[in-house]
Amino acid sequence: MPEPDPAGSPAAGGDSGRELDAGPAVPPEPGRGRRVVVEGTAYAVFRTESGWAVFEDNCPHAGAPLSEGMWKDGHVICAWHGWKFDCRTGACSIGRGLPSAKVLAVREDGGRLWISRG
Ligand code: FES
Repeated sequence: MPEPDPAGSPAAGGDSGRELDAGPAVPPEPGRGRRVVVEGTAYAVFRTESGWAVFEDNCPHAGAPLSEGMWKDGHVICAWHGWKFDCRTGACSIGRGLPSAKVLAVREDGGRLWISRG
């Protein structure tokens, strides 16, 4: 599956640049994620049972790409050491006080995904 060209990913409406075109709203394989690079930043995109979920593609434990992980029961599971992150909040669910992953708001419109960075 092709990733959108970062150079060809205009911000929605050409305004502040906070909402970014993350490419076609095509779900990854069931249970899997997809890496999308927009304007030089990598995101991990998942289509879960409750809708789209987008993370910064950088696990807060040791930097693994979360896009290489799996999702199950509303959580993304990092491929390197198995930490789990809530798809809505990014909270780590394997222990108290552990760092959260960064979740971004996303919406589908016109067959494309739009990520809000703000
Ligand atoms: S790098 Fe993600 S759990 Fe270790």
